[in-house]
Amino acid sequence: MVKEGKVLLDLEIPQVVSSKMQVFYNPHMRENRDFTLLMLLCMPEEELLVCDPMGASGVRALRLLLEVPKNIRLIYNDISPKAVAYFEELLKRYKVPQERVQIYSEDASLLLRRLRNLDYVDIDPFGSPTPFLESALLPLKRHGLLAITATDTSVLSGTYPKTCLRRYGALPLLSCEFYHEVGIRILIKKVIEEGAKFDYAFRPVFSYSYKHYFRVFFRKDIGPRRADNLLEKVGYLLYCEKCLYRKSVALEELQSRCPYCDNRLLMAGPLWLGELWDRELVESMWEKRGRVDISETTSRLLKRIRQEAKVNSVGFYTVSGFSKAFRIGQPPPIERFLEVFEGVRTHFTGEGFRTSLDHEEVLRRSHELLQRA
Ligand SMILES: C[S@@+](CC[C@H](N)C(=O)[O-])C[C@H]1O[C@@H](n2cnc3c(N)ncnc32)[C@H](O)[C@@H]1O
Ligand SMILES: [Zn+2]
Repeated sequence: MVKEGKVLLDLEIPQVVSSKMQVFYNPHMRENRDFTLLMLLCMPEEELLVCDPMGASGVRALRLLLEVPKNIRLIYNDISPKAVAYFEELLKRYKVPQERVQIYSEDASLLLRRLRNLDYVDIDPFGSPTPFLESALLPLKRHGLLAITATDTSVLSGTYPKTCLRRYGALPLLSCEFYHEVGIRILIKKVIEEGAKFDYAFRPVFSYSYKHYFRVFFRKDIGPRRADNLLEKVGYLLYCEKCLYRKSVALEELQSRCPYCDNRLLMAGPLWLGELWDRELVESMWEKRGRVDISETTSRLLKRIRQEAKVNSVGFYTVSGFSKAFRIGQPPPIERFLEVFEGVRTHFTGEGFRTSLDHEEVLRRSHELLQRA
């Protein structure tokens, strides 16, 4: 038996979680589901129409029905009949009224194409979400939320740049400290572009990287202007491996030499260069976290993101990256970096910090760091 939130599952958890499981349940995705509950709680509407088109064991679906104190109607789907049968059993066991749930078993894209007026769609496939993006963003109503989970993080982060170009139409950058942030920004760019085709503006409101996956929540808005406004924040990232210089630029501004050390610059993109979080939403999530059953780890992750969201920078620095670039044999503790660079920690890595200082100021203060280190 596995317990998650208010739900008890009679499933065997194998040593290795794989897509070959008869009914898919991944305990490592608890935080992922916790955030779904918290998001729904933070939406202003009291009545919500929610679609979980790859529902698997149904633990996410059942938890949101049982744990979010709102009037929620749910559309559950999974292509696997075994998963559907399992979920139907669960619903009976938990005595969920039939009128709250509609159940389908078909391809998620085909189902989503027929739906309308959804407040929330959760895309959580095996691997890349790209095949489902277009159909997922259509049925949402204005201000509805789209949640995208991507487990092809090594593609987005730069281990397979050709695959990233093919799937996401962007060049990743493995050789920087924040390669996973670059990956999330590429994912965001992809969703923004998919929406823009239909004059929709999908603004990222909460993003995180955790364990083996990236996740971003988007709020839908409608109108060509709004879509254009988002696209204005899509561009390129220039990066110098030698001195850690980084700069967000538009296509016209691509230059090839580092202005500080004349090293050849690397490039990533196109990618999203705007905010990764809506601060108001993050505050609301933080305030309401006690009202749903989220795990200790979810809460810690949220806490760190809450700090991190205060600094709106593209990329961050790491203690090890810094020490390597500036040949610091014995780097001081991260607290010292936070102090000198007025930084905040990042959830992406324990040794990372964000700062709103520009690179020139960072270089200047790095001497200060060294002198007193
Ligand atoms: C990663 S699991 C989803 C996990 C689930 N969201 C949770 O939180 O437990 C992916 C699920 O999608 C289903 N699936 C795979 N391809 C699908 C498709 N084209 N349409 C609908 N469901 C699909 C699989 O049967 C599997 O149960
Ligand atoms: Zn440089």
